[in-house]
Amino acid sequence: MRAVDIIIKKRDGGELTTEEIQFFVQGYTQGTIPDYQAAAWLMAVFLRGMTDRETEDLTMAMAYSGDILDLKDVASFVVDKHSTGGVGDKVSLVVVPTVAACGLPVGKMTGRGLGFSGGTLDKLESIPGFRTDLTHEEFKEQLARIGIVLTGQSLDLAPADRKIYALRDVTGTVPSLPLIVSSIMSKKIAAGADAIVLDVKVGSGAFMKTLEDAEALARSMVRIGRRVGRQVVALLSDMNQPLGWAVGNAVEVREAIETLHGGGPEDFREHCLVVAAEMLTLGGKAADPEEGKRLAAEAIGSGAAWEKFCAMVEAQGGDLSVVEDPDRLPRARLVEPVPAPVGGYLQKVNAAEVGLAVVDLGGGREKKEDTIDHAVGVITHHKVGDRIEEGEPLFTIHANDEHRLAMARERLLAAHTIGPEPVEPLPLFYGRIDAA
Ligand code: URA
Repeated sequence: MRAVDIIIKKRDGGELTTEEIQFFVQGYTQGTIPDYQAAAWLMAVFLRGMTDRETEDLTMAMAYSGDILDLKDVASFVVDKHSTGGVGDKVSLVVVPTVAACGLPVGKMTGRGLGFSGGTLDKLESIPGFRTDLTHEEFKEQLARIGIVLTGQSLDLAPADRKIYALRDVTGTVPSLPLIVSSIMSKKIAAGADAIVLDVKVGSGAFMKTLEDAEALARSMVRIGRRVGRQVVALLSDMNQPLGWAVGNAVEVREAIETLHGGGPEDFREHCLVVAAEMLTLGGKAADPEEGKRLAAEAIGSGAAWEKFCAMVEAQGGDLSVVEDPDRLPRARLVEPVPAPVGGYLQKVNAAEVGLAVVDLGGGREKKEDTIDHAVGVITHHKVGDRIEEGEPLFTIHANDEHRLAMARERLLAAHTIGPEPVEPLPLFYGRIDAA
């Protein structure tokens, strides 16, 4: 078999065989197929798409490119969640301890931010000392002992995705249905979860811009999960404005801590309860999502979710005194509220641009190797549909550099559309998919 023939076949719209897909994934992971051929192949897949069978084969080839974590000896049933990536998406920071506090173990491997979308790993690293590089043994020991782990994807799980994702990021091939499906599901399959709740984002701050595309993505992931014996539910959630108020790293951790204490933004709290409810239902702790939501709200209200969060921080070497006094999380030197230039209704927000403003400030990455400033970020003050008076704060920028602050201010102002016509508030969710 030759890589070039497989590229040509896909370029011309052909359907690849299981063996051809395995050959390509193995060859690229092991280094016998070079970046330039993999890049050409990814672009061919991006332009031509893949059949369901090809997507499934690609997912399995990527899942089995490394170790498959077996968690059966530490927990009888493990539930995981995954978001397709958004802006202000700090859901895991609240949902994982909440679900764990309800007695359902959650061992989650999570990723870094890339482009406009933030990553839970970067947010957690705002907590001084917090380790995100647990070994498989440490992962399993902690999961068995305290029922909660949030760490980085280990090097031995789905190594094909690590290589392919990095290449997609620099070749304009990220927003492709089969490539997103295989990237997410290969990691979830390799990480050993029995059940998975997928938070599929749709809108200006998501990879899927239309409901139709998001639904197709969700159905494909549910189908593949089912085929390999995992229970999967997908929620289609709005990403046409940031979730909650805070976008950044330490600022989002602060907002998650407020939420774990029973406060926090209303939309964010509700979003977390809905995701937690699905996980509790899949894990058999709740008869249905309604009961799951009640259990999740009780776990937050009683302080049990917060205690789980603290237990995780302590177990992973984080400074507990900092999360107990979140004012001690990294703080930016410059804090500038920016007034609304005109009065009217907030009609539209370009959420991706809000995410990119955080990258401008130094809080995200343009390239994978970039280091980030955990202190910087944006606090938004309004949701779509709100009436705003001219001159009242539209958002507040947390920056450590005047030039970056000016760049972010300009981008953020352009990202907000204020007009005289009232508009309806945006829904939090558009639907739930549990069948392919
Ligand atoms: N998240 C992933 O893990 N992979 C993608 O391709 C997109 C979002």
